[in-house]
Amino acid sequence: MAQSKVGALIMAAGKGSRMKSVLPKVLHNIIDEPILFYILRAVNEAGVKSSAVIAGYLGEMIENYVKLSWPDVEVLWQREQLGTGHAVQVTREWWSKYDHVLVLNGDLPMLTPQTIQYLINEHIDSSSDCTLLSFITYNPGTYGRIIRSKDANKISIVEYKDADVNERNINEVNAGVYVFNVSKLLKIIDNLSNKNAQGEYYLPDVIELMGKYEHEKMKTLALVADEEELQGVNTPYELAELTVKIIRRINVYWMTRGVRMTMPQSVIISPRAELEEDVALAPSVHILGSSRIGKGSKIGAWSSLSNVITGRDVKLVSNVIAENSKFNDGAIAGPFAYIREKTEIGERAFVGKFVEIKKSSVGKDSKVPHLSYIGDAEIGNDSNIGAGTITCNYDGVKKSQTIIGDRAFIGSDTMLVAPVAIGSDAVTGAGSTITKNVPDGALGVARSKQINVDGWAHKKREKGGEH
Ligand code: UD1
Ligand code: MG
Repeated sequence: MAQSKVGALIMAAGKGSRMKSVLPKVLHNIIDEPILFYILRAVNEAGVKSSAVIAGYLGEMIENYVKLSWPDVEVLWQREQLGTGHAVQVTREWWSKYDHVLVLNGDLPMLTPQTIQYLINEHIDSSSDCTLLSFITYNPGTYGRIIRSKDANKISIVEYKDADVNERNINEVNAGVYVFNVSKLLKIIDNLSNKNAQGEYYLPDVIELMGKYEHEKMKTLALVADEEELQGVNTPYELAELTVKIIRRINVYWMTRGVRMTMPQSVIISPRAELEEDVALAPSVHILGSSRIGKGSKIGAWSSLSNVITGRDVKLVSNVIAENSKFNDGAIAGPFAYIREKTEIGERAFVGKFVEIKKSSVGKDSKVPHLSYIGDAEIGNDSNIGAGTITCNYDGVKKSQTIIGDRAFIGSDTMLVAPVAIGSDAVTGAGSTITKNVPDGALGVARSKQINVDGWAHKKREKGGEH
C-alpha cells in the first residue's frame, strides 16, 4: 500500500428513504456524531490520506457537516441519484488521480480501520482489479447476493430485487466496500446498464463486467469479513441496534484501558471523548463531545458531561450536568449541580447542591455549597459563598461581572448586583443586596435594621387573633 496512491470515495448521495426522515441518512446521529463521522474516521485511521464524500440528496447539509468537521475531505456532487454505479461514474475526475480507489457505502458505522487495511493490503498483494468485502449471514435480507462461479474464479453480485428464489437463498452478501484498480475501473465504468428492477446503475455490476472483459484479463476477489462490522443502516430500527453495539464497543475499549463502570449498559461515551486510567463511572453517566476525564476521577450517577475537561481525582457526586467547562484537580461537585459554558472550577473547590454556574471561575479551595446562581463571576481562592447567594448579572439589557477576592465570606442570601466587586478578606451580611463595591477586609451590609416590638405577639394572641 505504501507505494500506491489510494483515495477513498464515500457514497452518501442516496435518499435513505427507509429512514423516513428530513435528514439525509448518513447525518443521523449515533451517540453524538453522525453516521458519516464513523466511516470517515475509520478510513482516516486506516491510513488513507485522501477522501471524498459524494453528496446529492439534501447534499448541502452533508457539505456543511464535512466542511465544518473534516476540512481535508472533499465534497463531490451527484446531482441526480441514478444508483451507486452512477455515483462512481460522475466522480471519476476525482478518483482517476489515484492508483486504487476504495469505494464505501456511507452507512457503515461499525467498519474498523483494521478491516479497511486488510482489504487494501489483500487487494494490492493479490494484484486484484476489484476486491470487495462480503459477509455470511443467516439473515441476508435485502443485501446483494454474492454469486461465485463453480471454479470459484469469477464473482458476480445480484441485487435482492433482481434475484430469483435460488439466488435469494444465498447467504453470502455484498457489504458495499470495494477497492478498484483505477486504470481497470476506467475501462468498465461506462459499460453499466440500468436495465434492472430498480432502473439504477449498480456499482456491484462492475464486478461481473470485469470478469467478462474480453480485451484483457481482470481479477476480482471477495473477502469474507465480520458480519457485525458490516451492518448497514437503512431503518430507524437498524440505527438503534447499531447505536447499542457502538456504545458497547466504546465502553469495552475504555474498560480495557482501566476505566471502571458499575453498569456499562447504561453508560454512554462519545466516540470523541477520552478517559484516563482509574476513572470510575456510576450508572447512567453520559460523557459527550470531546470531554476528557482525568485519572482517578469519579463521575456519579445520572451525570452528563459535554465537552468537559477534568483534572485528576475530580469527584462529581451525582446528577451533575456540565457543558464546555473545566474542573481542576480534586474539585468536587453535586449532587444536583448545573455547570454551564466557560466555567472553571479550581483545585479542590466545591460546588454543592442546587447550584448553577455560568461563565465563571471559582478559585482554589473556594466553596459554593448550596442553592446559588453564579453567572459572569470571578471568585478568588479560599472564599465561601453562603447558601442562596445570587449574582444579579443581568439587568434586562446587558450582562455584568461580579468579582470576589480571596478568603471572602459572602453571607447567606446575598444578592450581588453586578457590576460589583467584593475585596479579599471582605464579608457581606446575610440577606444583603450589595450594589456597591466592598473594599478588602470590610463588611458590607445592605438591609433594613431589625426592630423588636416587645410583647406584640402575646397581645395579639390575647385579642384572639389568628395563630
Ligand atoms: C447496496 C448494494 C448491495 C449491498 C448493500 C450493502 C448497490 C446497487 N447495492 O445496496 O449490493 O449488499 O449496499 O449495504 O450498490 N448512494 C449514492 N448515490 C445513489 C445511490 C446510493 O451515493 O445514487 C449511496 C447511499 O447514500 C448509500 C450507499 O450509496 O450510502 C448505498 O446505497 P443504499 O441505497 O443503502 O444501497 P443498498 O440498497 O443498501
Ligand atoms: Mg444500504
